Amino acid sequence: MKLRIDSLDQTQTLARLIADLVRPRDMIVLTGEMGAGKTTFTQSLGKALGVTEMITSPTFNLLHNYQGQKIALHHADLYRLERTGELVDLGLDELQDAGGVVVVEWGDIVGDALGDALLVSFSHGDDAIDRPGGQPTESRFVTIEPRGAQWRDRMQKLGEELSRSFEVLARG
Ligand SMILES: Nc1ncnc2c1ncn2[C@@H]1O[C@H](COP(=O)(O)OP(=O)(O)OP(=O)(O)O)[C@@H](O)[C@H]1O
Ligand SMILES: [Mg+2]
Repeated sequence: MKLRIDSLDQTQTLARLIADLVRPRDMIVLTGEMGAGKTTFTQSLGKALGVTEMITSPTFNLLHNYQGQKIALHHADLYRLERTGELVDLGLDELQDAGGVVVVEWGDIVGDALGDALLVSFSHGDDAIDRPGGQPTESRFVTIEPRGAQWRDRMQKLGEELSRSFEVLARG
């Protein structure tokens, strides 16, 4: 489904609604251009999961690990992944098996190698100001799509929740 969000605040709401449905061994793949909001979303997701540590972009180390209240959060960013062999080295499978939730920015770089996941894609809204010195707005388009049965089974509930809080541009 595709949504429009108007503010940073709404990105937090989106993250909270997804956090409410998160289970051990979940994978969330975040895609979208630089500055679209992938790290910002993960910070809100972490907060909703009870991570008290500050969540920072894992651009250089590729992976940061946090402990939430009930679940561990593993935050990866594949932007600087140089060989797909490095993906195996990150050990995301093992972290999933250990019961954590894994969030991967730029996860589309490795195609569908990350397996079943909730795919969340961000792009700047159509009102993004592009003039010199202009401030980019807080509006974003967000597309949410389940890959695999685990997330597909939760999509109905998530869709209902999201419809209550957001303008839905497309379903399915
Ligand atoms: N609605 C919004 N949702 C998310 N971020 C927003 C929103 N409105 C404004 N922003 C701002 O946009 C920026 C998003 O940066 P962020 O680091 O989250 O992007 P990113 O997608 O992780 O980029 P990169 O690909 O470089 O890792 C932040 O400065 C954030 O405050
Ligand atoms: Mg980022």
